[in-house]
Amino acid sequence: VTSTPPAGALLRWYDRHRRVLPWRAGPGQTADPYHVWLSEIMLQQTTVAAVVPYYRRFLELFPTVQALAAAGDGAVMSAWAGLGYYARARNLHACARAVAALGDFPDDVEGLRRLPGVGAYTSAAIAAIAFGRPVVPVDGNVERVTARLFAIDIPLPLARRVIGAAAATLNADLEAYARPSDFAQALFDLGATICTPRNPACAICPWMRCCAARAAGIAGDLPVKAAK
Ligand code: ADE
Repeated sequence: VTSTPPAGALLRWYDRHRRVLPWRAGPGQTADPYHVWLSEIMLQQTTVAAVVPYYRRFLELFPTVQALAAAGDGAVMSAWAGLGYYARARNLHACARAVAALGDFPDDVEGLRRLPGVGAYTSAAIAAIAFGRPVVPVDGNVERVTARLFAIDIPLPLARRVIGAAAATLNADLEAYARPSDFAQALFDLGATICTPRNPACAICPWMRCCAARAAGIAGDLPVKAAK
């Protein structure tokens, strides 16, 4: 069990097994910030499979952030209808107007964070995926992967800071630092397809040799959640 898992092993796995998703650019490329932002907002409480058709339709109706900013409330809300959590749609529209007023998306975490509806996770995701900033966005997938790698058994939500600090070290590896966009998305894919909440597929995990939870035989038990 090592301090920093080898990013190269994860990136080579990602190069072979990456999910093809409409908001993703090709390997080694950063993606359009409007596309990344839209997908991240839609994915906040909704699965990838449910988001894909909405995402495509949204881009047909509003091909640019300027088009979205200029659209009427009714048009935006009806394009969103069915995705739920309608505060997200109102924030989305407000954010599009803010970006249009700025001229374009800010290109770093601090600037992105000031946009309506863009929190710590979303600002880091856009900064890494669209702008190649060396940050690790921590969503539920990345929390789970990190808790297992380091066998962090403090219950959530108490563990959130510790897991976040550990996750921030994952890109200390030079290969991760060189490919921040792919590295962030590789972590999402690992969490979604291998390091799953139940019955993780440790036997085929690119990080099996450096995972403390796997070594202890407790991967499927982490992260621990506090009783409600
Ligand atoms: N979940 C959140 N962001 C994602 C992304 N960019 N790709 C796949 N799953 C995600």
